[in-house]
Amino acid sequence: MVKEMRWDKKLSSFNKHNHIFVKFAVSFLLLGLAFRLFTSDSIRISSPVETPPLAEQKTESPVVSFPIQAPISSVFPANESHTSEDVAVKCDIFTGDWISDKSGPAYTNESCQVIEGHQNCMRNGRPDSGYLYWRWNPRDCELPRFNSERFLDLMRNKSWAFIGDSISRNHVQSFLCILSQNLVIQMITDQKLHENVPQVEQAVEVYHDEEYRSKRWHFPAHNFTVSVIWTPFLIKAAIFEDMNGVSSSEIQLYLDKLEETWTDQYRNFDYVVIGGGKWFLKTAIYHENNTITGCHYCPGKNLTELGFDYAYRKALQLVLSFLTRNDQKAFVFLRTTTPDHFENGEWFSGGYCNRTVPYKGGEIDIGDVDSIMRSIELEEFEKAATVGSENGVILKLLDTTRLSVLRPDGHPGPYRQFQPFVKDKNAEVQNDCLHWCLPGPIDSWNDLVMELLVNGEKYR
Ligand SMILES: *[C@@H]1O[C@H](CO)[C@@H](O)[C@H](O)[C@H]1NC(C)=O
Ligand SMILES: *[C@@H]1O[C@H](CO)[C@@H](O)[C@H](O)[C@H]1NC(C)=O
Ligand SMILES: *[C@@H]1O[C@H](CO)[C@@H](O)[C@H](O)[C@H]1NC(C)=O
Ligand SMILES: *[C@@H]1O[C@H](CO)[C@@H](O)[C@H](O)[C@H]1NC(C)=O
Ligand SMILES: *[C@@H]1O[C@H](CO)[C@@H](O)[C@H](O)[C@H]1NC(C)=O
Ligand SMILES: *[C@@H]1O[C@H](CO)[C@@H](O)[C@H](O)[C@H]1NC(C)=O
Ligand SMILES: *[C@@H]1O[C@H](CO)[C@@H](O)[C@H](O)[C@H]1NC(C)=O
Repeated sequence: MVKEMRWDKKLSSFNKHNHIFVKFAVSFLLLGLAFRLFTSDSIRISSPVETPPLAEQKTESPVVSFPIQAPISSVFPANESHTSEDVAVKCDIFTGDWISDKSGPAYTNESCQVIEGHQNCMRNGRPDSGYLYWRWNPRDCELPRFNSERFLDLMRNKSWAFIGDSISRNHVQSFLCILSQNLVIQMITDQKLHENVPQVEQAVEVYHDEEYRSKRWHFPAHNFTVSVIWTPFLIKAAIFEDMNGVSSSEIQLYLDKLEETWTDQYRNFDYVVIGGGKWFLKTAIYHENNTITGCHYCPGKNLTELGFDYAYRKALQLVLSFLTRNDQKAFVFLRTTTPDHFENGEWFSGGYCNRTVPYKGGEIDIGDVDSIMRSIELEEFEKAATVGSENGVILKLLDTTRLSVLRPDGHPGPYRQFQPFVKDKNAEVQNDCLHWCLPGPIDSWNDLVMELLVNGEKYR
């Protein structure tokens, strides 16, 4: 850490913007380093199904780190609403609070087979379970629970894709877990099974890439396909990280080229949940029109600091333009940035997230970085939704940022590792305050997806 701290001091003179930007830049540098370590552990994860002792393996690794967030600011009014028009008629399902729900999660670590080791908080020994008993309650309308049976019924012969970084993978696991939840009920009412009427079924993994970052599952009885595609920037990027996540060079980011890993497959998808963000905080050299046009955090390189927000906006514009002008008329959810909850330190300095209950509205604000990202997302979404509707593409905002900000209790914390305190109850353990426990708050994202899917016209 010594080297990084020294860099921090240099940053203030390097920066041409106001002091808030300096604060960001400091965070970003650390974040860049965090992500380097972070990638080795969580992003390049192997299949939980095929390599069960994942958590045990990873406990060997002494340094695993997580990204950080800039300090909380008050740019997040408690009653902010993005549905400026028709407020009286239409409901904003993203404004509300978390209320106690005794019925608990739709699945458990026992009933779902696809939970990645690092997010399997129950198995990893998280002692409290209160975080499982909350549901998202929009202020002005009811949010029904995800209905797997109805969903699968609607999805015969259809294909979904979750496109983005490791948060998208976190999301797809929740999605698959919820979809396969009724297995237990199925076994109880096995008369139905004998009648050969599949209600809800287990997904079969039919593809994974070499690093298990992108995968595809098939639900045979419904001929329903679900893919997750790892493309952390969505646009073309050259990332020079080895399998341990150690970076040998700056990321080269091509702001006018899309990443082909997802665009090449796009014609196969009927529904898409796409999102990104956090990777744009890393040090990167920006290319446009086959020339280097600047960078984000590259001191000593004599390049123009363009800021991550510049690159993120360009990337989103390119992505949304591709989606809304495509011959493939998919139903697209744009997911907004996801917050983390490190407290009393950052990922590298003992930051942790040991709260056990949600915040109430007004108790917490969105962080500066997430606020900037979400603003870009909202602005670009507004423009793109209009283009989309002219071209027969439905574009929905999946604005999960604010409801997720209220759930500091939903992260694995030290329980990203298997039984971290079994050998030594004072063990120093890295905390994950970015990804979400499964089951956990991220399950509600799917309730929102279902509602937008079946009753979308009610909302926006
Ligand atoms: C809610 O918004 C209104 C204006 O839209 C504002 O006057 C009021 O102060 C806000 N309340 C809170 C608690 O932020
Ligand atoms: C599920 O978690 C419980 C603790 O809540 C644990 O006892 C059990 O072994 C776990 N099962 C699996 C299959 O991970
Ligand atoms: C699914 O596709 C098969 C084969 O193309 C077709 O026979 C069937 O009717 C389709 N089902 C639905 C619900 O579209
Ligand atoms: C499955 O769905 C795809 C479209 O997603 C269709 O092309 C194919 O014919 C279907 N297969 C069967 C067996 O219904
Ligand atoms: C890119 O280069 C072409 C010619 O090579 C030029 O016409 C165009 O204006 C350039 N665009 C940008 C954004 O620099
Ligand atoms: C930095 O770049 C500018 C413009 O490309 C150039 O004029 C200047 O000499 C460069 N400075 C150094 C120290 O390389
Ligand atoms: C969280 O950890 C801190 C530091 O160990 C401790 O002071 C605090 O009481 C803990 N909070 C909860 C809710 O466990």
